[in-house]
Amino acid sequence: MKAAVYYETGKPDVFKYEDVPDPAGGPWDIVIEIKAISIEGGDVLNRAGGPMPAVPHIVGYDAAGVISQVGPKVRNRQVGQRVTTLSPFGSHAEKRAVGAITSWLIPDKVSFEEAACVPVTFGTAHECLFEFGHLQTGETVLIQAGAGGVGLAAIQLAKRAGARVLATASSNERLERLKEYGLDEGINYAEKDLVTEVRRMTNNQGVDLVVDGVGGEVLQKSIEAARHRGRVITFGQAGRGFRRVDVGGLAMGDKTLTGVFLGAEIATDRVQKIINQLLEDIAAGQIRVPIARKFPLSQAAEAHAYIESRQAVGRVLLIP
Ligand SMILES: NC(=O)c1ccc[n+]([C@@H]2O[C@H](COP(=O)([O-])OP(=O)(O)OC[C@H]3O[C@@H](n4cnc5c(N)ncnc54)[C@H](OP(=O)(O)O)[C@@H]3O)[C@@H](O)[C@H]2O)c1
Repeated sequence: MKAAVYYETGKPDVFKYEDVPDPAGGPWDIVIEIKAISIEGGDVLNRAGGPMPAVPHIVGYDAAGVISQVGPKVRNRQVGQRVTTLSPFGSHAEKRAVGAITSWLIPDKVSFEEAACVPVTFGTAHECLFEFGHLQTGETVLIQAGAGGVGLAAIQLAKRAGARVLATASSNERLERLKEYGLDEGINYAEKDLVTEVRRMTNNQGVDLVVDGVGGEVLQKSIEAARHRGRVITFGQAGRGFRRVDVGGLAMGDKTLTGVFLGAEIATDRVQKIINQLLEDIAAGQIRVPIARKFPLSQAAEAHAYIESRQAVGRVLLIP
């Protein structure tokens, strides 16, 4: 099969489009013919400097496709079914083997392209807002990096839950694009001070919940932007600034800071049901999957470079 591989981490041009052996698949695995690959924020970070269990390495968490092989221990999947899948690596290819436990059947009305973006992107947003963020109707939530994949999913889910939704982005144009997904008020953090703006928008109180996938300096400001007894969720390092955070401000405001990693509970019935329900919600038109741009798999380098140019609003896809 063809795959976008690399032998060393670094800039997007580390990608090579090569022939590699087809994945074998173990007894608990399925093998799929990939139809659409969602480039996750973590894929970009992994390509820049993440672990490589072997070389050539195939990066990538999420991909959707058609089952071509089912391991002998798998009871609930059949050849020919449409599924979306999650695995720590292997999405940037024509085929992948994944544990059947991290595959979800795609409803008829949902495309491969939409489904590819669901497990990590919408699953993480849901965990941050509800399971760990305890978001309630009528509360105010601040979504950091609202134009990113998880950010845009979180805006939609928070709005649907009846929250007032604030979000940040690096330009006014990017913020404008978020309004159709449920953004109430945007903060262009390249021009304005985040904490001052949040205070202005919340009658000097701060927000009930912050969902922060940027980390570093931004996470520090997220803690400041939360109200007394506010909750801050940290789930990512999109800002690439691995600064240590001073947690002193938490105690002063009776605030909590919680980390979220979707992978830690992905195999639980609870998360399995959430991802199935999110796929049904997309089929029913209740939430949308914003797709910024599509590239052929052979142009993985260009696609990653496009994401790093900060122009994408929503997900960038690769199509084998
Ligand atoms: N814990 C988990 O289970 C989990 C799950 C999914 C993702 N993650 C992590 O969460 C983070 C966000 O994921 P994502 O998929 O939403 O990412 P994404 O789609 O690539 O979006 C990231 C956003 O971050 C903003 N950003 C801020 N500083 C940046 C910088 N220096 N370089 C590039 N972008 C920057 C950009 O928006 P602006 O230009 O508007 O600022 C961009 O849209 C990543 O670190 C990812 O690894 C963790």
